Amino acid sequence: MAVENASGRALRVGIAGLGTVGVGVVRLLEENRDILLQHCPWPIEVTAVSARDRRKNRDVDLSKYDWCDDPVALADHPKVDVVVEVIGGASGPAKALIEKAIANKKHVVTANKALLSAHGTALARSAEQAGLALAYEAAVAGGIPIIKSMREGLAANRIEHVYGILNGTCNYILTQMRETGREFADVLGEAQQLGYAEADPSFDVDGIDAAHKLSILTAVAFGCEVDFAGIRISGIRNVSAMDIEYATELGYRIKLLGLSRLTERGIEQRVHACMVPQNALIAKVDGVYNAVVTQGNFVGQNVAIGRGAGQGPTASAVVSDLMDIARGRILPAFSAPAETLKKIPAAPEGSHVGPFYLRMMVVDRPGVIAEVAAIMRDENVSLESMIQRSRSPGDRVPVVFTTHETSQAQVTRVVEKLGKVSAVVEPPHVMSIEQLS
Ligand code: NDP
Ligand code: HSE
Repeated sequence: MAVENASGRALRVGIAGLGTVGVGVVRLLEENRDILLQHCPWPIEVTAVSARDRRKNRDVDLSKYDWCDDPVALADHPKVDVVVEVIGGASGPAKALIEKAIANKKHVVTANKALLSAHGTALARSAEQAGLALAYEAAVAGGIPIIKSMREGLAANRIEHVYGILNGTCNYILTQMRETGREFADVLGEAQQLGYAEADPSFDVDGIDAAHKLSILTAVAFGCEVDFAGIRISGIRNVSAMDIEYATELGYRIKLLGLSRLTERGIEQRVHACMVPQNALIAKVDGVYNAVVTQGNFVGQNVAIGRGAGQGPTASAVVSDLMDIARGRILPAFSAPAETLKKIPAAPEGSHVGPFYLRMMVVDRPGVIAEVAAIMRDENVSLESMIQRSRSPGDRVPVVFTTHETSQAQVTRVVEKLGKVSAVVEPPHVMSIEQLS
């Protein structure tokens, strides 16, 4: 199906947002023009652009494009067939623009996972009813073509689980912390300078951005509506250099993972820092790289790795969506038609079962370990190992436990009880241990 437009000679693109991603898209379309011409039936031409500040120097020549002060005006622009929304935000101009573009029968390409996580199902319905593309490869795992892979190459499979490193900023920070021994706060600024972080970096470090992406992956994997509210989310603020050292000693790496699994009691979606065996594939994915692992009932395990953030990878994903539209390849946003997406409940809170890591700071005095161990015994938590490295009577010392299979609910009760022990001087650091291969 070719895209119809007034000139009939090009796919005409309006870009809203000229920051890291928007400028990358302009650059890629210019620099790789010959490649795109070879692969697409029609040239892909930027005709109009929009951002807040017209005078800002963006290191690209924008003089040949129409400028719109109001990004929503791109949806009315007579020379725009496809709107590329790379402003960001779950509401405001990004949402208004996409809704108006669909109402005006224009295709939409977006990198905005926050918006899709909140309104993806409704937007997919409107786009599909109008026969339009709502394409968002850049929204999940940056340059990794994971949406294409799940909607096309893996589409014949019943997906059993999907998990991955879904935030480049966090993976960069955790890698730097491990390699240099620095603390979290020292490394965050670097990730911002490199263009990896969200406008509000708390979205990255508190796990929200990874959860936005996980909610989208879950919908594609299990043919269900997007359910951000059903995700248990925490981030990496509490991961300390000391936890990273203990992880290494125990044979693990710390990663912020998004994990989604279909269980008999509903969908279990979790985003949190966790320990993974050092020899697991995902443990070796460092820096800004993301990885997504899917398990399909016929294909088996599939692993995709690539840069998860930054100008080049994100622009690559946005332009691949534009190429699909130019080639007439328009699929339902979440693979299954939006009208058929199921409402699957979230698995009950605390139902995850697995081994856990607990680190406490305790006053080094007789009987403390016995008190802590009694709490574990009372909650039926079986210990796998314990580390108390130094002896320093009367001082605070770290004590680390790893457990055998335990439910999140049991661990939560243990932590509550430990909070009442006077010798435990700060809230315990808890991480699940994910036995991935
Ligand atoms: P930036 O902050 O670098 O750029 C945002 C752009 O939007 C700027 O050009 C800004 O204008 C413009 N803008 C902001 N508010 C308005 C408004 N009210 N009206 C008009 N224009 C506005 O963001 P990124 O390029 O990093 O991210 C854009 C989107 O891509 C977000 O949804 C993000 O989550 C997503 N994304 C980003 C990735 C990355 O690595 N950076 C990777 C994957 C997805 P001005 O420049 O004039 O201030
Ligand atoms: N802030 C996001 C990240 C950008 O660091 O992964 C890519 O979605």
